[in-house]
Amino acid sequence: MARKIIIDSDPGQDDAVAILLALASPELEVMGITAVAGNVPLDLTQKNARIICEIAGRGDIAVHAGYDRPMLRPLVTAEHVHGKSGLDGIDLFEPSSPLAPGHGVDFIIETLRREPSGSVTLVPIGPLTNIAAAFHRAPDIIPRIAEIALMGGAYFEVGNITPAAEFNIYVDPEAAKVVFASGAPLTVLPLDVTHRAVTSRAWVETMRDSGPVGQAVAGWTDFFERFDREKYGSEGAPLHDPCAIAYLLKPELFRGRSINVEIETTGEFTRGMTVADWWRVSGRKANAQFMREIDRDGFFELVTRRITRLDRAG
Ligand code: RIB
Ligand code: CA
Repeated sequence: MARKIIIDSDPGQDDAVAILLALASPELEVMGITAVAGNVPLDLTQKNARIICEIAGRGDIAVHAGYDRPMLRPLVTAEHVHGKSGLDGIDLFEPSSPLAPGHGVDFIIETLRREPSGSVTLVPIGPLTNIAAAFHRAPDIIPRIAEIALMGGAYFEVGNITPAAEFNIYVDPEAAKVVFASGAPLTVLPLDVTHRAVTSRAWVETMRDSGPVGQAVAGWTDFFERFDREKYGSEGAPLHDPCAIAYLLKPELFRGRSINVEIETTGEFTRGMTVADWWRVSGRKANAQFMREIDRDGFFELVTRRITRLDRAG
């Protein structure tokens, strides 16, 4: 039986690769995608999610628009990383599949209430606004969640949008605080892992040669890698969000430990910091499986094998 998931996303080129990886994997049943404002505004993230599904030949996937801004703060976007469209790097098109009716938060609540308890996994790969809103509006769904596997936060890698914070947590720290305090089974794929999931030139060329879907992935990573090359001197683009999907497919690719992670919401310089108690010195209760290591070769072998299937299936 395929594992039922809802992907909450702010596409973004790395979100796009994550969504393609999920749609290429028969172990996963994507119940729907809920778009959230993050990398670019909501009107673009919801359109981008539909474009990505069409590139995968899955225009049938329900894409719902969620929140267009964080719970309390003004929206911070990342066009400097993802370009004005959020999916720069390919020739974009108007998606033919319509936006699904109904708010993304209602879709999350209704799905979790309808499906058997413990059968649906949430995969947030953008700011956590929609997830926190669903928990506020319907706390009864929290014990029904199988697992939350999210891309966000950092420990040694500290921050990518400020010296202290990773983007997804930084944009809506109050929402992140709600999710990390919810008690739902939580697995975190932080920058410590995703900064090791960096593309190589050889891998990008393998993608480019594999067919139309692979060409889109190559175009996106060609664009997306600029930011990390300039900032970190890295060889390629960090595939942040695909790590959350790869964890669901092959958890053995990752290693971490169950620890306490708190979210800073009031610090003048540390807003959005994930205070990860890796050495368990705080005495605070563990609330997350926090990943720190990745089998990079195994990760790229999985991503390559799955994404190229979409072209063969094409
Ligand atoms: O910090 C990386 C995260 O922020 C990724 O989810 C990327 O898509 C951006 O949303
Ligand atoms: Ca994202």
